[in-house]
Amino acid sequence: MEALLEKQEHSIPMPRIGDKAPKFQAVTTQGDINFPSDYKGKWVILFSHPADFTPVCTSEFMTFAKLEDKFAKANCMLVGLSIDGLYSHIAWLRTIKDKIKFKDMKNMEVRFPLIEDITMEVAKKYGMIQPGESKTQAVRAVFFIDPDGIIRAIIYYPLSLGRNFDEIYRALIAMQTADEFSVATPADWQPGEDVIVPPAGSCGTANDRMESTNGEIECTDWFFCTKKLDKKEVLGAVLKE
Ligand code: BEZ
Repeated sequence: MEALLEKQEHSIPMPRIGDKAPKFQAVTTQGDINFPSDYKGKWVILFSHPADFTPVCTSEFMTFAKLEDKFAKANCMLVGLSIDGLYSHIAWLRTIKDKIKFKDMKNMEVRFPLIEDITMEVAKKYGMIQPGESKTQAVRAVFFIDPDGIIRAIIYYPLSLGRNFDEIYRALIAMQTADEFSVATPADWQPGEDVIVPPAGSCGTANDRMESTNGEIECTDWFFCTKKLDKKEVLGAVLKE
């Protein structure tokens, strides 16, 4: 029996970067949703947490609630999930608003949808149940899904580790910048810092880049070329006021 359950757990492939986001319909704290079609044209951060009424998750929900408008300005909606029922979700979100303080946050209202997934249907589709960590609770998964419904990045954290929200926001803006300006972003990149020009695809381009004196692209070797990208230009392109 154990072996059969294990086989079933491994029979649903984990979604990967570049895959279409698996479709589902769900009941949430903000009404029913059809995913990802309800979010066409928007980025979505679909994230899971282990359980309602747990402290790390509570600190994360308060932080997401605080940042919701900031993500919305970057055309990104938040959708949460845990293997709990709707009434547990509602009671937990009410408790957060009425009673919990964390850092400078209090009276935090979670306005984004929180999916009830008591059957684990969605969690299994998205590889959020990782049995080595827990067979009954979702790990802290973060799926970045683009306006065409394609999974663009995935971050997983274990149960004991609260997420880094600066990194989640940075990754979103970096991916949007890469799309908008056809560039890549180096380690620890922040808007305003130099970006990476895609590697030369031919010997001729490699020569041109090394010999170019126009100053727009700087190459320390033929494959390592950067250029300036103004912070205002980046934010103007990716943020909606
Ligand atoms: C928490 O959110 O505090 C938590 C949840 C599951 C396991 C450990 C911690």
